Amino acid sequence: MKNSIGIKLFIGITLFSIIIVSFSWVLNTKFLEDYYFKKKQENLFKYAEAIQTMYSNNVNDIDFTLKSIEDSIGGNITILNENGIEIYGSMFMSHRGGKGKGNPKAMSLLTKKGLNKVLSGETILEYYIHPRFNTMSLVLAAPLINGNILIMESPVSSIKESVEVAKDFHIYIGIISLLAGTFLAFIFSKIFTKPIIELNKVAKSMAKLDFSKKYRVKNDDEINQLGKTINYLSDKLDTSISELNRANKRLMDDIEKERELEKSRKEFVSNVSHELKTPISLIQGYAEGLRDSVIEDEESKNFYCDVIIDEAKKMDKLVKDLLNLSQLEAGYYQLQKESFNIYKLSQKIIDKYLPILKERNITLQINCDNKKLKVYADIIRIEQVIVNLINNAINHVDDKKTIKINIRDYIEKVKIEIINTGKAIPEEEMDKIWDSFYKIDKSRARKYGGTGLGLSIVKSILNLHNNSFGVSNIDDEVMFWFEMDKWV
Ligand SMILES: Nc1ncnc2c1ncn2[C@@H]1O[C@H](COP(=O)(O)OP(=O)(O)O)[C@@H](O)[C@H]1O
Ligand SMILES: [Mg+2]
Repeated sequence: MKNSIGIKLFIGITLFSIIIVSFSWVLNTKFLEDYYFKKKQENLFKYAEAIQTMYSNNVNDIDFTLKSIEDSIGGNITILNENGIEIYGSMFMSHRGGKGKGNPKAMSLLTKKGLNKVLSGETILEYYIHPRFNTMSLVLAAPLINGNILIMESPVSSIKESVEVAKDFHIYIGIISLLAGTFLAFIFSKIFTKPIIELNKVAKSMAKLDFSKKYRVKNDDEINQLGKTINYLSDKLDTSISELNRANKRLMDDIEKERELEKSRKEFVSNVSHELKTPISLIQGYAEGLRDSVIEDEESKNFYCDVIIDEAKKMDKLVKDLLNLSQLEAGYYQLQKESFNIYKLSQKIIDKYLPILKERNITLQINCDNKKLKVYADIIRIEQVIVNLINNAINHVDDKKTIKINIRDYIEKVKIEIINTGKAIPEEEMDKIWDSFYKIDKSRARKYGGTGLGLSIVKSILNLHNNSFGVSNIDDEVMFWFEMDKWV
């Protein structure tokens, strides 16, 4: 709360009530007495006038009125006849001189000058100071009809007393007003600052980027309008910052992708160079050998030429595979799908392999659930898949020299399994073998002319078809499999 608007408001309102109370107290002490005097005098004149109009030589007619006026002014009324004899007078008068004896005492309240003025028809007001008690009275004397005189006397002490009482009372009123004012100031500052404190809380959490807190709008005053504006600002900021974050995330992802692309591009170039290095240096070496005629005999020359042709073939295969892969991975490759008999296609491919299988003494079995099975796919690309997988099986078959091809009929799919007896593929390599240029055993791959592109071509083709594929080790066999959409 220190230095807060609430404290300032509280101090302000309290000071204000102190000033108001003090000011009214000063005014009171300074002017109340004078005001009382003025009022008293005015009243005396007013009553004198009233008596003048009502009086008609018979005091008894207005006796009751005179009594009530005496009560009002807190003093005494005396009426003297033309001979100076008291025809009406209060008790007070009697112990000064006595009633009906030509009262010189009532007259003695007036100065000579005053008495003359009254006798000449003027109404006068004078002060009388009691010689023994030293008390002061206001004395009004007025002429009545037939030379009668009205004398009204009101003690000033009663005025002073009333003023003192009023002043005392005013002090109590002041203290009570101050206490009430302070209390109200406290309540008021609390009520006034509560929404401001709430607004501040909302703004503070906004500064910490927490937009969950909202101002509870209660009415339509300026503070609540500010609350509404802050709520609106909070919503706007929330959406903008979230959008910004999303955009930033996308940008980061793009940068990451770009980085990965750049990395794979570099890897690709280095892989291609590496693949080409060996055949090029071999071709170069053997060609130079031929030119420099290091060897004379025909047989050796033929061997040199065979090496050169063989290496050139490998380079040719590499370039063809690369072109193939880049075509498939370009993103706009269009498959030419058609329905065809998968058993017939497999048989046709196997026929081409018969000489090599015979030469290497490999047994190949084909099992088909249904020889009439048709699939819907790009026949040329599927042939490529099967050729690649059979090639791998031939290159990796072990001494048991057995290869199996299973064609399985499922509900919506046809599954092809190509299985060769051989060494299991380590679990951690199973994902990597599908990457370009990846070979588990590099020197072995070189012997059979492997580029490490075969399985990545298979993967690309099957991904384009949206078909599943995979590899698993079963006992002493390795099984590669893939699925195709069944034509029904
Ligand atoms: N039938 C298989 N048995 C064991 N390993 C295999 C088999 N087929 C593929 N591989 C492994 O996967 C790698 C990648 O195969 P591939 O992409 O066809 O390249 P390449 O045949 O040119 O070596 C091979 O180098 C080999 O290590
Ligand atoms: Mg291969």
